Amino acid sequence: MRLIFKRPPLRDTNDDRTKLLYDTAPLSMRDLLDIMWQRHTCRAAFDPNKKICEPDLQRILDAARWAPTAHNLQNFEIIAVDDAHRLAAIRAIRLPPAETLVGENSRHLSLSEAELLRRRTGLLASMFPESWKETDPATGENAGAPIHIYLGRTIEKCPLLLVVVHDCRLEVPAAEGDSLGLMSLGCVMQNLWLITESLGISMQVLSGLGTNDVEVQVQSILGIPLHLKIGFAARLGYPLTAPESHLRVRRRIQDFAHRNRYTAPP
Ligand SMILES: Cc1cc2nc3c(=O)[nH]c(=O)nc-3n(C[C@H](O)[C@H](O)[C@H](O)COP(=O)(O)O)c2cc1C
Repeated sequence: MRLIFKRPPLRDTNDDRTKLLYDTAPLSMRDLLDIMWQRHTCRAAFDPNKKICEPDLQRILDAARWAPTAHNLQNFEIIAVDDAHRLAAIRAIRLPPAETLVGENSRHLSLSEAELLRRRTGLLASMFPESWKETDPATGENAGAPIHIYLGRTIEKCPLLLVVVHDCRLEVPAAEGDSLGLMSLGCVMQNLWLITESLGISMQVLSGLGTNDVEVQVQSILGIPLHLKIGFAARLGYPLTAPESHLRVRRRIQDFAHRNRYTAPP
């Protein structure tokens, strides 16, 4: 399958074409499905001195711009942070347990590749960077035991952080809890992830920046008004270390796809 990427026909914003800050010819044409397979989360530290070049940043922001959003509300703003002082201030914030919250009882973590291959969902415990591991502070029987928990408390180094915010006053009509607005942010996230992958830039989504206490600190560091809520942030860059090959699993198509009617698993 070879896809030809064409710019969508522009009408009202036709003039934008002349203002683009990059050459519209793609660097390398890769199949979309191949880019989807290759896209992955990179949790390693990125080289803070290897910057994302301005044309690539513009390509990335352009990809975000063309994400579909409910009612075309384009309910997001992106703050691209490459100032070393602000990045350091954000990195100094300790993140609360996010989606990577673990402990031995985690439902999402497999302790061996065999277990992960069997489950086909979730993550392998050993794939998290050492800096994410902490000794379990629990008291009682296990006190002091070298059990590792993976809290994702640190933001590894990077030359660029994209903070994606949305206007919480701008609710999509008829959507409970602005669910359609939040889905739209997911479309922005995916566009960012696919374009960065196609440009050979690594990315890690950080959902923890939007959690209460952390959000207030990030808003203060970046001067974000309170009505703009942090949807997610994305760390971008080039890994300092050679990429480790972690086992990544997905369900088989027949495990989630149904034809004409839902069929319960056996
Ligand atoms: C909405 C959302 C939030 C996520 N938040 C985080 C996060 O805070 N930290 C992190 O390391 N990965 C985060 N991820 C990445 C997922 O863990 C990752 O996409 C998933 O494990 C599949 O792995 P892959 O991206 O390598 O295919 C997030 C992904 C999504 C879609």
